[in-house]
Amino acid sequence: MDSRPCNLVLVGFMGSGKTTIGRRLAEDLDFGFIDLDEEIERTANCSISEIFANEGEQKFREYEHQILLRCQGVNKQIISTGGGIIERAENRALLRKTGFVIWLIANLRETLERTAHSNNRPLLKVENMKEVVRCLIRTRYPLYEEVADLHIYTNNLSPKETVCGIVDSANVFFATNCRN
Ligand code: S3P
Repeated sequence: MDSRPCNLVLVGFMGSGKTTIGRRLAEDLDFGFIDLDEEIERTANCSISEIFANEGEQKFREYEHQILLRCQGVNKQIISTGGGIIERAENRALLRKTGFVIWLIANLRETLERTAHSNNRPLLKVENMKEVVRCLIRTRYPLYEEVADLHIYTNNLSPKETVCGIVDSANVFFATNCRN
């Protein structure tokens, strides 16, 4: 049986609730919390928008990959990832090695509402944001699906219900697949 470290990794599109749910999961399970976007900003010593503006998206992706590599070896952590992390095949392989991977899915309306006014999502600072979101969703959803152990549709769930659903499945993972 494949054995993985005892971490939960949250993936999903921008605005799917990874940070909110991740922080609650960390509290409930008494795990640490790692937000990869925050780690990138700390490492680069500037904001995500500044990285995109000054160094470009490819440089941002390189930071993202390096921070994910740094997570190899951590244990009992909730790891919240940026929505584009699954675009690189090497990241998808790493995510599967990092822990139990959970894909949070919000509907299009909620995604648009939650991302409309954000500052750290330069990809959506465009005139035709709805089109861009649709296009990214089309290319990315199969990639989230490829890495995820569990899919959660959050539409009709409160954060508390989402967390409960994840904890139930995660406990099965911890009991059967987890390298302590
Ligand atoms: C991105 C998502 C963002 C952040 C960056 C790029 C993406 O994170 O990493 O703006 O490509 O989808 P969230 O998914 O936390 O918004």
